[in-house]
Amino acid sequence: MKYLLKKVLGESGFDFLAIRFRFLRNLLALFKNFFMDMCLYFKHSNVFSSDSFEKIEARIILNYHGIEKGFVHDKIRPRFAIKRVKNLISDLQAIDERYQHNSQTTIAQKVLIDYYEYHKKNNIAIGDYFSEEIYNIFKSRCVLKEKAFVEKNEAEYFSDVNKTFDLFSNSRKSIRSFTNERISEDVIKEVVDLASNAPSVCNRQPARVYFINNKVLVNKVLDLQGGLTGFQNEINQIFVVTVDRNYFYTIGERNQFYIDGGIYLMNLMYALHFKKIGCCPANWGKTVDVDKEAQKILNLKKSEKIICVLAVGYVSGNIKYTLSKRRPLNEILRVLE
Ligand SMILES: Cc1cc2nc3c(=O)[nH]c(=O)nc-3n(C[C@H](O)[C@H](O)[C@H](O)COP(=O)(O)O)c2cc1C
Repeated sequence: MKYLLKKVLGESGFDFLAIRFRFLRNLLALFKNFFMDMCLYFKHSNVFSSDSFEKIEARIILNYHGIEKGFVHDKIRPRFAIKRVKNLISDLQAIDERYQHNSQTTIAQKVLIDYYEYHKKNNIAIGDYFSEEIYNIFKSRCVLKEKAFVEKNEAEYFSDVNKTFDLFSNSRKSIRSFTNERISEDVIKEVVDLASNAPSVCNRQPARVYFINNKVLVNKVLDLQGGLTGFQNEINQIFVVTVDRNYFYTIGERNQFYIDGGIYLMNLMYALHFKKIGCCPANWGKTVDVDKEAQKILNLKKSEKIICVLAVGYVSGNIKYTLSKRRPLNEILRVLE
């Protein structure tokens, strides 16, 4: 067939048609694949339905983590996160009625117990949205000893930084409050140099890092980001991690830049921890409109996709971070023989 077409069209005519055919075939594949991604997201994400155990559990994690974050502020606001508490109680009741509890729904109850006891100890009434009866139910079945947040001083927090990888990795936590001391450009260069050890598909190294050292710009980005409200006054410097779409070849690679960017981000966080600098990643799960606004603010190339914002800074004194209890192995690992 190929031979016949070449004979009829000639070498250059054949090439002309072949290029257009490949273009069309890729365009159709692009539509099909993004359309299927859309269908799967529509069907299985929490956006359009909330019927499964996993979806209720996801909301529970979102809400208990929001309450944990309320505890790590220097000044804890009385009756904070009322809506989260109400939603959490209602979702935990749904689990009671229909499903079995797991690590995350169990820790959620402990976070609520801490919330209730904190308010009781400080004589702050919360009975209008969190009754003693519900507290007693959680308390009677909870055996966990951990608290919703952890407090350490600077020396304790960084004590495992130069030890073996298991201790090093266990000791990194998301820190959301920083001192006013600025990280110098020289230190930032060392950090980024170290982070660049991150592996990437075929060593394409598509990640780029913007270090923002200007508080006005930092605030603009954090306002758009929206996940660090309440901590923003103490954040003076941020990284914005992007990935350049120019480095991806196939339709199958349409989501690859999130993987390469994610690996880079993790290495950047480890590099910062190694240099005894605190950091907290801040979610960039944004719609295209917000992406466009950020691109304008930061003067990014159109081909660049922001992966994450990373608040950074030195820490001192009393360092507080969320417990963020991890799942046990049996909720994560499946071995297929
Ligand atoms: C991609 C990503 C986005 C995140 N976004 C936010 C955010 O917007 N606000 C925030 O306070 N924490 C954010 N975090 C921090 C998580 O809450 C934190 O990593 C998680 O609770 C685990 O705790 P740890 O980092 O202390 O181990 C984010 C983390 C990741 C990896």
